Amino acid sequence: MNSIGVFGLGVMGANLAMNMANKGERVAVYNYTSDLTEKFKSNFTSDNAEAHYDLESFVNSLAKPRKVFLMVTAGPIIDSVIDSLVPLLDKEDIIMDGGNSNFNDSNRRYHRLKDVGIHFVSVGVSGGEEGALHGPALMPSGDEKVYQEVAPILEKIAAQVDGKACCGYLGKEGSGHYVKMVHNGIEYADMQLITEAYQFLRERLGLSVEEIATTFREWNEGELESYLMEITSDILTHVDEETNKPLVDVILDKSGQKGTGKWTSQNALDVGVPLSIITESVFARFLSGLKEERVLADQLLSGPTKLDQDLDKQAWLELVRKALFMGKICAYAQGFHQYKQASEAYGWDLKLEEIALIFRGGCIIRAGILNEISDAFKADKQLPNLLLSPFFQEKINDYQASLRKVVIKGMETGLSLPSLGASLTYYDGYRSSQSGANMIQAQRDYFGAHTYERVDKEGTFHTEW
Ligand code: 6PG
Repeated sequence: MNSIGVFGLGVMGANLAMNMANKGERVAVYNYTSDLTEKFKSNFTSDNAEAHYDLESFVNSLAKPRKVFLMVTAGPIIDSVIDSLVPLLDKEDIIMDGGNSNFNDSNRRYHRLKDVGIHFVSVGVSGGEEGALHGPALMPSGDEKVYQEVAPILEKIAAQVDGKACCGYLGKEGSGHYVKMVHNGIEYADMQLITEAYQFLRERLGLSVEEIATTFREWNEGELESYLMEITSDILTHVDEETNKPLVDVILDKSGQKGTGKWTSQNALDVGVPLSIITESVFARFLSGLKEERVLADQLLSGPTKLDQDLDKQAWLELVRKALFMGKICAYAQGFHQYKQASEAYGWDLKLEEIALIFRGGCIIRAGILNEISDAFKADKQLPNLLLSPFFQEKINDYQASLRKVVIKGMETGLSLPSLGASLTYYDGYRSSQSGANMIQAQRDYFGAHTYERVDKEGTFHTEW
């Protein structure tokens, strides 16, 4: 009998199935259309992999409780796949969904399947095609007891860091997909922050693409070490064969998105978390999409005319490095605040230190800093915000002046730095004991009798203004 079945043989599903077979699991594979099954068979031969063209024989080849891993495009199709599987499954069988599903759908599917005695494990999967094949980061949720059934397989196929699998039980219901969603929000922020640092070095320090590649490679050897930093320095070394220009210069500056960043921001509004850096990064993608309008506006709308051309390169390189690191810390602080708030709002009991440990390998946002993030939440389970942990306090107290200088220089010279700017605004807002919201309260009370609280006595007050 096979120990697991993979349903869906697109690149991610096929790679995950190969990963399972390569790690010694007996895996059955199935796809709705036979073309991908054929492709899988011709690309991969292993005694551990068994292809099925018929759903019933696929299901019947699995040891009980059956474990079916769905790797199907997120959306309504997952519901139809579940509909087709349920009549073939028995009570206690387990369906795992490894797509980029919306956590609300995963919550619904968890309860729907629970009602018929089938278990649902929502599994956030990160790492792209390579990760799926060699070791992704996995973010599973559902019933902890059920997770224990699938843990030996999931933990075996996941990336490993310091002898620990980048996979662990995260929380109830569809919280695994929630964790993956916010992971993607942080991914958007990290990508945008690196992009802004790149633009500053290129357009304000006048560095060549090759020089920036070298700089990023060096930065990647220090505290900024991350997968995204590594691939960005590599991207900058690629030359377009047709034009002989850096490839990055011939790529149209309009960014796509599949929606997980947007979901993260939408949910931040629902749970009430200031998620400005991630949200600015989503907005920056929207703004990039207005290419034709931006080209027109560039001709019609004015900005500063005199750019500082004589910046001390060495000094500014270090300022930008520190600004980037601080922006990244603030983005993680916002993302982890969202986890904390959602965990309370939805009753999930998310373990923040465990999430940070899982993110250390396999996933797109893997980075050296995650060790310190995990340590911070391990040392203080009630830590309200990453910025308040001793390690990060010290770091940002040192780095905030650099971020300030870079953002001011960008503003002064008309270089748009939305996510670095949002990091600074968030930082200054967060450390302000006096927010200015007393004025908002007064205004609300003035026009709508919405009442206010006072600083000097308990109670609710209204003024006839
Ligand atoms: C991952 C990625 C992946 C995501 C892509 C594209 O963790 O492997 O987050 O799940 O789909 O990064 O996302 P966008 O198209 O929204 O940029």
